[in-house]
Amino acid sequence: MINIDALNHVKGKSIYLDDIPEISGTLYCLPFYAETAHGRIKDVNIQAAKQLSGISAIFLAEDIPGANQIGGIIPDEPLFAANEIHYWGQPIGLIVGVSEHICRKARKLIRISFDELPVITCPREAQKLNHLIVPPRKFKIGQIDKAWSECDYIIEGTADINGQEHLYIETQGAYAWPKEGGSLYVASSTQGPTAVQRTIATVLNLPMHKIEVNVVRLGGGFGGKEDQATMWAVMAALAAQKLNKPVKISLHRMDDMCMTGKRHPYSSDFRIGLTKSLKIMAYEVIHYQNAGASADLSPAILERTLFHSTNAYYIPNVEATAWSCKTNLPPNTAFRGFGGPQGKFVIEAAIVKAAESIGVNPDDIQKANLVDNGDEFPYGQVIENAEAKHSWEECDLAFKLDEIKHKVEIFNDSNIRYKKGYAVQPICFGISFTNTMMNHARALVHIYQDGSVVISTGAVEMGQGVNTKLLQIATEIFGISPEKVRLESTNTLRIANTSPTAASAGADLNGKALEIACNTLKNRLIQVAESNFGNKEIIFCHDQIKTTDNKNQISWTALILLAFQQRVSLSEHAHYATPVIHYDKTKEKGHPFAYHVYGTAILEVTVDCLKGTYQFDSVKIVHDFGNSMNTDVDNGQIEGGLVQGIGWMTMEEILYNEKGKLISNALSTYKVPDIYSVPKEIIIRHLETIGPELAIKKSKAVGEPPLMYGLGAYFAIRKAVKSFNPLAHLAFDAPYTPEKVLMDLYRRNK
Ligand code: MTE
Ligand code: HPA
Ligand code: MOS
Repeated sequence: MINIDALNHVKGKSIYLDDIPEISGTLYCLPFYAETAHGRIKDVNIQAAKQLSGISAIFLAEDIPGANQIGGIIPDEPLFAANEIHYWGQPIGLIVGVSEHICRKARKLIRISFDELPVITCPREAQKLNHLIVPPRKFKIGQIDKAWSECDYIIEGTADINGQEHLYIETQGAYAWPKEGGSLYVASSTQGPTAVQRTIATVLNLPMHKIEVNVVRLGGGFGGKEDQATMWAVMAALAAQKLNKPVKISLHRMDDMCMTGKRHPYSSDFRIGLTKSLKIMAYEVIHYQNAGASADLSPAILERTLFHSTNAYYIPNVEATAWSCKTNLPPNTAFRGFGGPQGKFVIEAAIVKAAESIGVNPDDIQKANLVDNGDEFPYGQVIENAEAKHSWEECDLAFKLDEIKHKVEIFNDSNIRYKKGYAVQPICFGISFTNTMMNHARALVHIYQDGSVVISTGAVEMGQGVNTKLLQIATEIFGISPEKVRLESTNTLRIANTSPTAASAGADLNGKALEIACNTLKNRLIQVAESNFGNKEIIFCHDQIKTTDNKNQISWTALILLAFQQRVSLSEHAHYATPVIHYDKTKEKGHPFAYHVYGTAILEVTVDCLKGTYQFDSVKIVHDFGNSMNTDVDNGQIEGGLVQGIGWMTMEEILYNEKGKLISNALSTYKVPDIYSVPKEIIIRHLETIGPELAIKKSKAVGEPPLMYGLGAYFAIRKAVKSFNPLAHLAFDAPYTPEKVLMDLYRRNK
């Protein structure tokens, strides 16, 4: 089935937040902030701004009717800073006016005086001062202290990894208007409608049933709208309630970049121990997560870093510790992979450093340590249906790793200005929210008298194609054509208590709930058909309902009418909760994931050793889709995820100055991959596997895992740099921008 949004996207007919026709009398709102990352507020002077003609109101913390609190996991984040400012861009209040233009004008007239406080942006420095979001977590398996004595090689090091801007094409925004009796309707560009609803209720001191949140689709989220779409919706709702008017907010790109959190930067220390036969016996790692000024989703992200600290490798003795460090940056947040990629970067760096010091190829170590059935992850889950070795072998077989290596060597021997590098990147990613409680979903299906069907679930469409998959599920169960089925927006009145569409689990959770609803309806319809045909086996296909002996047939439309006349319910609301999974945080052991997604990529790059620039020649992937239910949609996720991962590892560089001000705050200073920087060739092969029962139609989750193939980009470039400058000691410090590559090419040992 083609992506159901494809045609309207291309024609420009799809509705995004800013396309919603405006109700007359709509006001606009704009938050304001102080020029500091850490300060004690002395005075906020809004007089001049307030007097500007066209300004309706300016709201501060004291105007909030309920709690000045938007923290999701921990209540540590005010909507408006009242006493202290903790990051550059933290809202202090909200300007409301008749146009966006007038609000911008007013913003320039606001005077905020404050006392400067010390600014900390480094997570290690914050940890030393005990500025923590939550106490540290530790995952352990085996006996690390004893294990070191069994190792022939022990290598230590440090790895740093920077954040990443989400750069969804549609910036953050919301549109709220009052309904009858003090209720509110809120259109939001959010991955988590329920979080928006709950937080508005808290801030406005209303019961949740008075707030209807509606999401049609997002112009990209990538995790940046899992938690951080909430703030803007709360602002619009606050102004709408206070002024009893429709109020809209739509951030300019520079405000969006300055005021929102990003992927978490991490700084980590590792020690890895191997035997002569290259078996990794011991791995110790300490992660310092740069959480920013408040918790947001950082504790959950920290947890996933620990879950994925050993990537696709089995290591018998592991001790992994993670600190969530509070700094004066915007609260960092979910981003495709949710802390997993950071955990994986460090183990890959450790393997590369070990390989360099032992004098072997990193892929010799990687290959010798891939997980297998019966192996246990440090968090206690025993591996079933491992595809790590399988995907590696298929990748090797299909793309001939030895030939690639040989080609690279020959090229490097005969070239001076250009050097090639390659890396193999295996991945293993756990599917389920790591917080077991979040793994459930609901679906609502109505069949109307004319046979047309409407579906609602808690899933949010953000470009990943979940709506297409949902449509596919319903049409297949009912055996009807796609034109008969419509996907409704995600709305808190139709589907309550949703988990955000995240953790790559959107299609699994909502799809399974939808399956249950559709099958329940189908069983009712079978009974109606049986009352007509007698007790024969019945099939649904091509808009017809037939007996298998082909003697009886009725159209879908006629059967629906019949069912309605017989007073059979044509609506169903269903619930699904992932079975099997559990986790005990006190022991740090359990079975948190429904299943894992595996795959292996080979990345090849050519570095220009005069300029420090590079071009990816190819990325060749064997990916474990299970039994892909939509190969076009799934291949799209692989390509997009891969390129986003490569961008993070190479050119995307977030920079704050020493005062904590974001200086990479526009597309002129923050470079993302464009058509010229994507790999010249991307080949995606599907690994032949059966697919797990817990995946929707045995089609594995695909949203986040492919981003992690991009990690290989860093190590491929490093390999090329090493071949030009073999003696240099190189740090592990992503992203590997052309500037850093150039420095490394000509680095001399100290
Ligand atoms: N693909 C597109 N086009 N746009 C997005 O915003 N978000 C990613 C991934 N793929 C995203 C995307 C992230 S972070 C997640 S968690 C999943 O999609 C969420 O959707 P799913 O659960 O339906 O896979
Ligand atoms: N993944 C993504 N988003 C989340 C998770 C997770 O494991 N937990 C809470 N939000
Ligand atoms: Mo995705 S980071 O789980 O929204």
